[in-house]
Amino acid sequence: MSRGSMLRKLAEGIVPAEFIKYVPKGFEVIGDIAIVNLPRELEDYRFKLAEALLSHLKPRIRLIVRRTSPARDPNRVHSYEILAGNGGLETIHREGGCVFKVDISKVFFTSRLQYERSRIASMVKPGEVIVNMFAGVGPFSIVIAKRVPTVKVYSIDINPDAYRLMIENVKLNHVEDKVIPLLGDAAQVIESHNLKHIANRVLMPSPEHAINYLAKAVETLKAEGYIHYYDVAHPKTDIKKHLENRVSRIFDELGVEWSITSSRIIRSVAPSKVYACADIFIVR
Ligand SMILES: C[S@@+](CC[C@H](N)C(=O)[O-])C[C@H]1O[C@@H](n2cnc3c(N)ncnc32)[C@H](O)[C@@H]1O
Repeated sequence: MSRGSMLRKLAEGIVPAEFIKYVPKGFEVIGDIAIVNLPRELEDYRFKLAEALLSHLKPRIRLIVRRTSPARDPNRVHSYEILAGNGGLETIHREGGCVFKVDISKVFFTSRLQYERSRIASMVKPGEVIVNMFAGVGPFSIVIAKRVPTVKVYSIDINPDAYRLMIENVKLNHVEDKVIPLLGDAAQVIESHNLKHIANRVLMPSPEHAINYLAKAVETLKAEGYIHYYDVAHPKTDIKKHLENRVSRIFDELGVEWSITSSRIIRSVAPSKVYACADIFIVR
């Protein structure tokens, strides 16, 4: 049974029939925490619904929470209300042979990027040098390091909690020789650690920030290489054209040759907002 159908079935015993249409079509699981985003219409039923869900999902899930804020924080951190269960908001998430320690009240993390992390890792060749400008607790960097021999991934994040957890995750996954956690603003760290002209590939997995750091990403590349660029789009636009329009002025000013080798929608975040990715090949 899908998560949405399960929620709906549980809700049928708790929520009046006319409100069933507001039951969400799914929920996210991070480690042993389920994040259920209930709309305003289900406010009065949230604790009963969460208790029913927890009884159904125990022991794999120990805590049911809901987001109480959009991630407006510059570090993309949400606030949560605990609806059922015990314990804190720190958990261990497992994904494709990797483990990630996260504290969802202090750092950004989503399990919904599993496919994207795997897709990027599948493009990386042995021996590559990679700069991950917005690494969070390290999931993109660690998935690559676990899968590909002899890579070096410089992993930058500005959030001290993400940096601390990234260091722990690098150890937990035994990739200390491949992933180098760095704390600070991506542009400043690239300057201060001399990361210019060193990378075969630059990852920019922060749709809200990437455009402002694109010129710095180009400086980080060797004579040629890939940038995995993330941005926000409207679901009804031609995604490739939209991304081309967004990046073209910056690349043209820098005078580099570039082409988008592939583009895709990563996930929907609101009715009129999706996150999208372009894989861009650059010759400087
Ligand atoms: C959308 S999250 C992605 C994190 C990670 N890539 C993941 O998939 O879990 C964006 C990350 O960028 C970090 N960030 C925001 N501004 C930054 C900056 N100027 N330099 C470096 N990191 C930054 C945030 O702290 C956050 O962890």
